[in-house]
Amino acid sequence: AQKEVKVDETKVYKTDEWMNTPSTILAAVPRRLHLQKDHPLRITRELIESRFPGFKTYNNLFPVVTIGQNFDSLGFPADHVGRSRTDTYYLNKDTVLRTHTSAHQVDTFRANESAGYLISADVYRRDAIDRSHYPVFHQMEGARTWDRAAASSNKTLAELIWDDVAKIPKHSIDVEDPNPTTHAERNPLQDGHSAEEVEAVAAHLKRSLEDMVVTIFTAAKTAAAEAGSETTAAAQAPLKLRWVEAYFPFTSPSWELEVFWQGDWLEVLGSGIPQQSLLNTAGVPNRVGWAFGLGLERIAMLLYSIPDIRLFWSTDTRFLSQFSSAGPISRFVPFSKYPACIKDVSFWLPQRSSSSAAGGISRNVGATATASSSPTTTTSHDFHENDVMEIAREVCGDLVEDVHLVDEFVHPKTGRRSMCYRTNYRSLERTLTNEETNELHDKFRQQLVEKLGVELR
Ligand code: PHE
Repeated sequence: AQKEVKVDETKVYKTDEWMNTPSTILAAVPRRLHLQKDHPLRITRELIESRFPGFKTYNNLFPVVTIGQNFDSLGFPADHVGRSRTDTYYLNKDTVLRTHTSAHQVDTFRANESAGYLISADVYRRDAIDRSHYPVFHQMEGARTWDRAAASSNKTLAELIWDDVAKIPKHSIDVEDPNPTTHAERNPLQDGHSAEEVEAVAAHLKRSLEDMVVTIFTAAKTAAAEAGSETTAAAQAPLKLRWVEAYFPFTSPSWELEVFWQGDWLEVLGSGIPQQSLLNTAGVPNRVGWAFGLGLERIAMLLYSIPDIRLFWSTDTRFLSQFSSAGPISRFVPFSKYPACIKDVSFWLPQRSSSSAAGGISRNVGATATASSSPTTTTSHDFHENDVMEIAREVCGDLVEDVHLVDEFVHPKTGRRSMCYRTNYRSLERTLTNEETNELHDKFRQQLVEKLGVELR
């Protein structure tokens, strides 16, 4: 008999040997944090939406999509690492939990309900465990396009777009933008796009996204200053923005926007001019425009100074009661920090007769996900670090704060590889007892043996 899985009590999917989605991940689907009243992710979403008047918002798109929607339609190559089962949650070989909101680009362009749209949604990725990574997080994606048929003998399309550029509020923040709009090798103009058109679209993109980012970071600065937390010179430095060249398979040219925030350049969003082939597939070959995507947790963490991404999932009123859509943004006051308990686990990897080592590279779709995009380490044979992470999540839920490799070596005689992972146990809500952490750690060790076939040292 064919096996099935139910998602959100409403939809049933056939599973096959590609299925790698644990029930704990599926349990997150009904949470819809970006829709929850007075949740910081919802407030952040609404603040961003308020800077895009007239854009149609989509906040209820279902997270189960085809690999066509998530990868193929966006031009991801067949061997792209993002497609692997170590990085993506599959229900069956054609069906995944979306790894980014871009999975809805083609369908939303096809619906063509508005010249501008914003999509906010939960997205799912197998990834590292630390205070800025969680396997479920939220992205917002937006686009603005123009119909070439709007051009007339009076005005070219580029002139029409420049008229729209003039309508966007102008800020007075310093922006570094050293690169030309397009670059033949690094950031090429698409076939069939004119330089004038793309200059105008790029100007509209930059002015729109700068306005949104300046609004958010000005609010964050005010909140930090009011809490009296701005003590260092770095924190008092004026806000600065910078555009850098980027790469996405579905846009060209592409750019990222970075913000100078408390002494560091932080990447806030990815953007670019959607590939014309994508708009053709969507049945709107006559349109041209821009698109962007960002991670909502990352922005909310900066906006409210929220120190740990797990907090967004908290149902503790000490967390939730601190946010209100009615009032101004104010800094989150952490409730007491409970002690951490650090434990190591060392093991030998199983030896495989046929080695199939894959390259340890990070995929590019995650660039804007959360506070740092960590490369996924692939070590030897069939071992993938994300499997260790998933076991830790499965055993410990939100009681694990961080898991990372602290030592790795190959035995000179036997050729066996040894790994040592350090696990940081900490509850955000209470002090864990010794017995409790020991029990979690023992279970984690056992599961590593059972699921990965490692030999404990
Ligand atoms: N989907 C990209 C990401 O997850 C962001 C992006 C969206 C880039 C739209 C360009 C256009 O990083």
